[in-house]
Amino acid sequence: MTTTLDIPFARLRAAYDEDGWCPVPLRFDKAAVELIREHVDSICRERRPEVVYEKGSDVVRAIHGCHAFDDVCAALVRHPQLVALAEALTGKSVYVYQFKVNLKQAHEGAAWPWHQDYAFWSEQDGMPRPDAVNIAVSLDDIHKENGPLAVIPGSHRLGLLDLPESADGKGDWRQHVSADLTYTVTAHTADALAQKSGKERVMGRAGSIHAFHPSIVHSSSNNISADRRALLLITYNTVDNAPPNPTRPEFLVARDTAPVSARHDDRLGVEADEQVLAG
Ligand code: SIN
Ligand code: MN
Repeated sequence: MTTTLDIPFARLRAAYDEDGWCPVPLRFDKAAVELIREHVDSICRERRPEVVYEKGSDVVRAIHGCHAFDDVCAALVRHPQLVALAEALTGKSVYVYQFKVNLKQAHEGAAWPWHQDYAFWSEQDGMPRPDAVNIAVSLDDIHKENGPLAVIPGSHRLGLLDLPESADGKGDWRQHVSADLTYTVTAHTADALAQKSGKERVMGRAGSIHAFHPSIVHSSSNNISADRRALLLITYNTVDNAPPNPTRPEFLVARDTAPVSARHDDRLGVEADEQVLAG
């Protein structure tokens, strides 16, 4: 097990700036993935507001803010290489803005329509600039049948698209975590962008890591397979970009904006992802 792998930050930063997303040549090892999964599964069985279900069912869609109450999730957000990655991609000191796991259960996990995360963070939370980064950790093998994230490269440079004229009635956080998202990019806009710039599926084996920009246009389809697709997402925001007066629940918008302090944890080993390194 290796824990001190070098990450080619300059190369990743160039890809991230250009495309709005990048695979990271590092992945969590099998033991780490198993441990995180166990904790996620146990949180899914709890009845608490952080646990959100698919519409009209008792199938868990997502869990939120787990770094505030679960020791493994708390250790994960402080993982030295994740923190270093977030700092390298944003160029600044960061804190944890949001933590979630989207479960996409086998056969039942519902789609996420085309959207930009920054629409929610800007319009609902008052985040001043899109100076944050999403770090996605695959907790299952992600393939084209189990609802991988799809991104439109370069779309993070277009600003916010298709914003509604009025935000009236758009303030209920439950709608921000459902399949009927409040701020979407229309299929018409997304199709036109994808025609021009293409569309990439973000796939990889369990443990793999990707980064994507708050303004990139992205979506994911229904899980039509027998395989769960759990994706863990940590959003690091730059310390000087904290929303001054957020009102959504703390499990969606962290109030502690102190820089995250990196701390090594033996349980969360990483190894080189040779395929990404070679790519
Ligand atoms: C998904 O889990 O497929 C959607 C993730 C996101 O919208 O950030
Ligand atoms: Mn999103």
